[in-house]
Formats: sequence, structure tokens, C-alpha cells
Amino acid sequence: MCGIIGYIGSQQAAPILLDALQILEYRGYDSAGIAVLHGSTIVNVKAKGKVNALRARVDSAVQGLGGSLGTMGIGHTRWATHGKPDDINSHPHLSRSGKIAVVHNGIIENHTALRLLLEGHGFNFVSETDTEVVAHLIEYLYRGDPVKAVREAAAMLDGSYALGVLFSEYPDMLVAVKKDSPLIIGLGDNENLIASDIPAVLGHTRNIVRLGEEELAVVKRDAVTVYDRYDTEMIPDVMHIDWDVTSAAKDGYEHFMLKEIAEQPKTVKNTVAAYVKDGHIDFSLASFDEEYFRSIDKIYVIACGSAYHVGVVATQLMEQYLRIPSRAVLASEFSYMDPILDEKTLVIAVSQSGETSDTLNAMRYAKAHGTRTLSVVNILGSTISAESDDVIYTHAGPEIAVATTKAYSAQLVVMYMLIEYIGILRGCPFMPEDEFLNALHELPQKLQELIDDSAYLRDLAGIYQNRKDIFFIGKNLDYALSLEASLKLKEISYIHSEAYAAGELKHGTLSLIQNGTLVIAICTRKELLPQMLSNIKEVSSRGADVITVAEENTDGVEECSTHCIRLPESADFLQPSLAIVPMQYFSYYVALLRGCSIDQPRNLAKSVTVK
Ligand code: F6R
Repeated sequence: MCGIIGYIGSQQAAPILLDALQILEYRGYDSAGIAVLHGSTIVNVKAKGKVNALRARVDSAVQGLGGSLGTMGIGHTRWATHGKPDDINSHPHLSRSGKIAVVHNGIIENHTALRLLLEGHGFNFVSETDTEVVAHLIEYLYRGDPVKAVREAAAMLDGSYALGVLFSEYPDMLVAVKKDSPLIIGLGDNENLIASDIPAVLGHTRNIVRLGEEELAVVKRDAVTVYDRYDTEMIPDVMHIDWDVTSAAKDGYEHFMLKEIAEQPKTVKNTVAAYVKDGHIDFSLASFDEEYFRSIDKIYVIACGSAYHVGVVATQLMEQYLRIPSRAVLASEFSYMDPILDEKTLVIAVSQSGETSDTLNAMRYAKAHGTRTLSVVNILGSTISAESDDVIYTHAGPEIAVATTKAYSAQLVVMYMLIEYIGILRGCPFMPEDEFLNALHELPQKLQELIDDSAYLRDLAGIYQNRKDIFFIGKNLDYALSLEASLKLKEISYIHSEAYAAGELKHGTLSLIQNGTLVIAICTRKELLPQMLSNIKEVSSRGADVITVAEENTDGVEECSTHCIRLPESADFLQPSLAIVPMQYFSYYVALLRGCSIDQPRNLAKSVTVK
């Protein structure tokens, strides 16, 4: 939640900060602000709403100050947690003297106690935010050494933070520190940047340092020094990012979501290619030997949202094929259920961002209870990937739209490969490895066919765009898929939608079905078709319109549906990867026709780093 940026270099800071905030807007978009050092004064401009509203204000501030500002500054785009989105609560926040400016991503849990302490020392607060505490606290502790003051302040904070701090008395440096919220440093040529995420700095550099837990960086125009949590200077790992700038740009598409849906064949291909060597699946997992995989007696997949839905698909397949008790658990619930964890338990954390606080905390809980953890993560070097015992990266590239599409597909593919890999070791794979890999290699082409043939889904969306309630039903893997399809639709179109196991409707939900309700019935499990057809009749006889989603040669579905979406034939376990594509398009077009903010749905943010 929230995107932060900082720039120090030889160019005007304001336009660079604004452009970066626009890129980071997917992290939060209810208000934004920048603070730029102009001479010895911090010019702080903030605005409720999206970055464009801020841009207009910055333009007039720059005009008022003679046409230019300074070359060092920090910026923030907010997803409100403490205090409503407005000009005052937006960041940066200034200290009492106006000489220190702070941007923050995270939550300061002890902000009330710190506020009382600071009020006792004569600090008055103007905002309702937890972050303003940090600005005043640094000033309270400041005795002429900015690094020491930031470090001491950070030590007093409970909760999560990525902080960028600017001192007007130190025009040659920014100070950054982080705990449980992401922060990267972009190493440029005579300029350096701090940011919440890599795409924000790609226009300047592809050399990145990812700050570790409680590490602090002093960022100057021509040098960056990183200190570990004990304040010992360290040599940071520099990562070279091989995405180009266009992979984080819309590239002619109307929305990032549309672009990312269309990128799924490439994403799947790259992810499969990364883990096949000499015709065999090869994850090169340093922390997990073959003996361990033979010994595991239970599996938990912990994740949130769509990543959890990947877990639901995967655990059904794990139990069915590997015959290992397997359960997908919402990460935010994991510790409360007091899970049975031991050395024979495999805990898999699935996360696109690798920063989701609930998933991270669940994973830490598992580790603390003696269980080895494996993460499936998209973002290189992210906290979950760094803290898990081992990591399998999905190769989806940057995903910008808040609603995940291509990362979801990459996660599914990794899960299929992991199941096949464990299955081979335990003598119960999906199918012989060569056949399995052939089926996976055919997947990108089938995805491409669905993408090339997606225009009709816009017409279908046009017919149903004004429905009040839309239900998704399915059985087994199709139920897991229904969960994801329903989430996709509701998060971007704001239409109320729910997913049900098809057999469960008659236990209560059927009372909601009436004339005009739309039910989308996913029917890829051929062996379950007779039962699905009866469930479809239950809803259509009560007035529902029904869209069925089924493989090309499935008989009997046209007759009982208002519309039918057809999928290419494939191995059963791959159907979740195919069936989701038309569902993504349908959601996208419904949202488009309803005029919704597709890439940045209301109230949501891409990376959920709060509990
Ligand atoms: C929905 C969506 C979210 C995320 C969830 C977990 O489209 O994107 O439900 O799947 O917030 O995020 P990650 O995968 O970053 O842990």
C-alpha cells in the first residue's frame, strides 16, 4: 500500500517524482504529494485524488517560484489507512520546524503512544496520520546527525515502515530505512533514487539494490551507503533488471489489465522454460532434498486473494494425485487455526508481490514452528522470497494492474510443475514427465487461441453489464476457478458476485436466484457434467440466465444455457489455466462498459503490506 519515491541528482526533481508516482499509482491512488528542496526551503505540494491532480498543483507552485525547483525530493501516492484521503493527510509530512519531510509506506502501530509523548514535548499535529508522528519524532531526536536521528526514530517504531526522509539542512542526501515494507534503491549515473517498486526507477536505471529488513541507506547524488540493522556498513547486492521499460508500460493497450491478459502465453512459456532442463523439471531447490519431498505428510498453501485461489486449485490436485493431505489457507487466518506444523509439513507461500503482509506473517509463523517454507513469488528479492527457505520465481515480469491476471497464470503453472515433480519422486505424477511437459508446452498456444478469439466477450459483457448479482458455480477445480472468476469480476466492475460449489446452491443460495440473475456455470470437469447439468437446471428453472463455460466437444451444455463459452481441449488439470482467460476478458469488458477505473479499482491497492 502506498508508493514512495525519492530522487537526488542533477535534474529537476519534481517532474521525475511525478512521473514515478504515476507509475506507482497502482499501489495507492487516493492522494499524492511531493516535497522538493528549493534553496534551503522544503516546498511541499499535496493533493487529494490521483497524481494528475497533484501535477496541476505542482505546475502552479513551480510557476510561482520562478519556473524551477530543486534537484532533490521525495514523493508519495497514498492508500489511506489512518485518516481520510485529503490534502492534509496526504504525504509528505513535515516536522514542526518544516525542516524535515517524510514519506512512509506501512503502519506505525504505536503511533498513539508516540503522539502523546511528542505532544508532551510541544509538538502539534495537523493530520490524522500515523506518519506525521515519524516526522516529529525524527526532529525531536535530531541533534545535527540526520542518520542517527532516523535510526533512533526507527528503533522506536512498532509496525511496518519504508521511510524516505529529506532534511533541509542536508541538501546532499536522502535517508531511507525499511522494516516489513518494500524499498529499493535505483543506482543511476550521477543520480540515485529510492522507490517502493522497481518500475518507478526503470526510466533511470536497471541497477537496483533491495534494502533488507532494518537496513538504512544514505543516498547521495554520486554514492549510496547501506548499513545493516547494527549500523555496520555493508556491501549491498546489486541486481540488474532485465525487463525493459515497455514491460512496465501500457504499450498501446487501453489498460494494463488488457495488456497483462494478452501477455499470458509469454508468461507461461517463460515460467515453464525457467524450470525445464534437459527434458526434466528442475527447480534447483537448495533447501529441499528429494528425501524431504518423499517424507512430507501434509501440505499447506498460504496466500491471499487470487494467490489463495491458486492454492485452492493446487491443493485439490495435490490431494488427488499425490495423496498427501493438502489444504489452502487464507494467510490472514493461518495462525489463528493453530495449524499442526512439524518437519514433515510443507508450507508453500504464494504471492505475486512477495510483500503481502498477511502472507509474510503466516510464513514467519510456520518457520517459527519449525516448518520449512517454500515460496512462489514474482518479484525478485522481495521479502517473502528472501525469508522463505527456498523460492520458485514466476516469470511474469512486472504486473501493474491491481487485478492480477498473468501472475495468477504463472503461479498455476509453477504449482502444476511442483506437483508433477513431487509426484515423480513419490511415484504418482499427473502423467509421465515427457507427456506432462508436452501438455505444458502446448498451453501457450491454447491461451493464444483464447486471446485471439476474445472479441465476442465484449458483446457478451454488453448484454450482462447491468446485472445486479452474478453468481459463479462449479465443482472441484471448477469451483476453485469460480472463486477467481468471481473475484475478478467484482473487484473491477463493482457488481456483487459470489462463487459457489454448484451442489451447495440448494442449501440456501437458491433463494437469491430469480428472473434476471446471471449464473456463470463452469463445466470443464467432464466426469462431473451430469451433476453440473442438474445444478444448471435448478437455476435456469428459477429464471436465471446461464452462461456455461465448457470444452469444445462437451455435449449437452448449449441446450441448457443462454450463452456458451468454449475452451480448447486439454489435459484436465490444465483447464483452470484456460478457463480463466475468457473470465478475465468478461470481467474486463463489463468493467470497461460500466466506466470503471479498471487498473486501479476503488479502495484497492496492488501490494497489501498492512495486516
Ligand atoms: C486480485 C488480487 C489480489 C492478490 C492478493 C495477494 O486480483 O490481485 O487478490 O492476489 O492481494 O497479493 P500477492 O499475490 O501480491 O500476495
